[in-house]
Amino acid sequence: MHEIIQKLEEKRAAARLGGGEKRIETQHGKGKLSARERIEILFDEGSFEEWDMFVEHRCEDFGMGAQRVPGDGVVTGYGTINGRPMFVFSQDFTVFGGSLSESHAKKILKVMEKAVQVGAPVIGLNDSGGARIQEGVASLAGYADVFLQNVLASGVVPQISLVMGPCAGGAVYSPAMTDFIFMVKDSSYMFVTGPDVVKTVTHETVTQEQLGGAMTHAQKSGVADGAFENDVDALLQLRRLMDFLPLNNREKPPVLACVDPADRDDYSLDTLIPDNPNKPYDMKELILKVVDEGDFFEIGEHFAKNMIVGFGRMEGQTVGIVANQPMVLAGCLDIDSSRKAARFVRFCDCFNIPIVTFVDVPGFLPGTNQEFNGIIKHGAKLLFAYAEATVPKVTVITRKAYGGAYDVMSSKHIRGDVNFAWPTAEIAVMGAKGAVEIIFRQDIGDPAKIADRTKEYESRFANPFRAANLGFIDDVIMPHGTRRRICRSLAMLKTKDVKNPWKKHDNIPL
Ligand code: HXC
Repeated sequence: MHEIIQKLEEKRAAARLGGGEKRIETQHGKGKLSARERIEILFDEGSFEEWDMFVEHRCEDFGMGAQRVPGDGVVTGYGTINGRPMFVFSQDFTVFGGSLSESHAKKILKVMEKAVQVGAPVIGLNDSGGARIQEGVASLAGYADVFLQNVLASGVVPQISLVMGPCAGGAVYSPAMTDFIFMVKDSSYMFVTGPDVVKTVTHETVTQEQLGGAMTHAQKSGVADGAFENDVDALLQLRRLMDFLPLNNREKPPVLACVDPADRDDYSLDTLIPDNPNKPYDMKELILKVVDEGDFFEIGEHFAKNMIVGFGRMEGQTVGIVANQPMVLAGCLDIDSSRKAARFVRFCDCFNIPIVTFVDVPGFLPGTNQEFNGIIKHGAKLLFAYAEATVPKVTVITRKAYGGAYDVMSSKHIRGDVNFAWPTAEIAVMGAKGAVEIIFRQDIGDPAKIADRTKEYESRFANPFRAANLGFIDDVIMPHGTRRRICRSLAMLKTKDVKNPWKKHDNIPL
């Protein structure tokens, strides 16, 4: 008996070493943790239950029969984050570069399938050179199986990807199917093909960092929803994020004990809006002052900064925040900001997370660049996402709500449940100057007349009362009471029950 136990311990020790000490050292040398070290930080201490530690690949080609490593390059299982169950797969770059074999894929599928059955999130710690080249089509099949499972799990349990090393080929497409992708600065890359192939095909010379580094994807492509400083920072931030999310689509969002009073007034908000309507202010200040204890987890901080999205809590309950940012492009809607917010709104709706929207939007960004690249279709994504969402929706217009963008930003007309406006709100088809130049074109040569007309338009529309007269705004509220009014609205909406007509699925303008 003693011998058998010892053998088990030896087998376990060998599996824990993955590709061996030397390769683990190389991994450390690159500022990266090993697959197992990452899991230790991610999960509550001692909570990780590992599965399939002894699985090996079945490939005999290219001398692979002599190179079998227990676990086959991925550590899988489940554990808890602050006591709540989560599944994980953590790819081990020290074993064939974390590449995905048929067996490796099966391990990932096992945790994904169980996660859907029990209703717990799947966290992927990705560090992989893509399909295991020696296995050919068997590894491609493995990827396709994972992709399919990603799709089946989508909207059922949250799927979160941390990209923590060079990820190429299939290794980027599975994360791309998940809800959020986070990367680690200076040590993670995502590309369909690496710099060498790019050079051959397009004759461009780029580094890995330029082509697919964390900031490239967090800032330029928007593929990544965040870029963290290092492995530890990324894993700790992920723990923080998971606290905001329900475990599955049947659950209400988690409610944490909250010491921040729901009726806390903040008088500094009464002076947030500058006297000059063309002067920007920082919408983040409003968000931080309204949510519980100023705790806001921003998604996509570096991309389409004219739109802010992220998670906060109101009276302990998770809410999704969507807000125009007047500091960037005057807070207008463009292609990137529409896509960013649409995807976030859909995530919230999938997982029963109420949406709080702060509006200060001068309209859609005009121009050939936007039109040629399809602002009509991309803007429609956000309109569609808000309109189909059945979760509680509370909207606060702080200043401008012009034109189509007024309709889009969770207006009453697309089933905003409670729509507030600050006294500084201006709800109109467009700004007074632009409006007058169109409807009083004949007076353009007469500055005095134009000034009069502009004043008239402003007095009629540069306020929230016309919309409030029509019932499109439920109340005009004092800025300092914003938190109180939102908390009350959300409390009232807790039992909201709205269903869309039966359909196989909708056809959002992709
Ligand atoms: C088998 C692989 C591998 C792979 C890396 N390795 N990628 N083994 N299959 N896909 C092995 C290397 O041979 C090496 O083994 C070890 O992992 C570490 O790799 P290095 O190249 O030394 O590391 P690094 O310099 O950091 O470069 C990492 C890398 C590079 C950028 C990921 O290895 C690379 O370009 N790999 C190939 C990427 C790729 O083309 N994958 C296939 C994509 S096609 P030793 O023994 O020397 O330590 C695909 C199809 C699915 O994924 C598409 C679905 C849509």
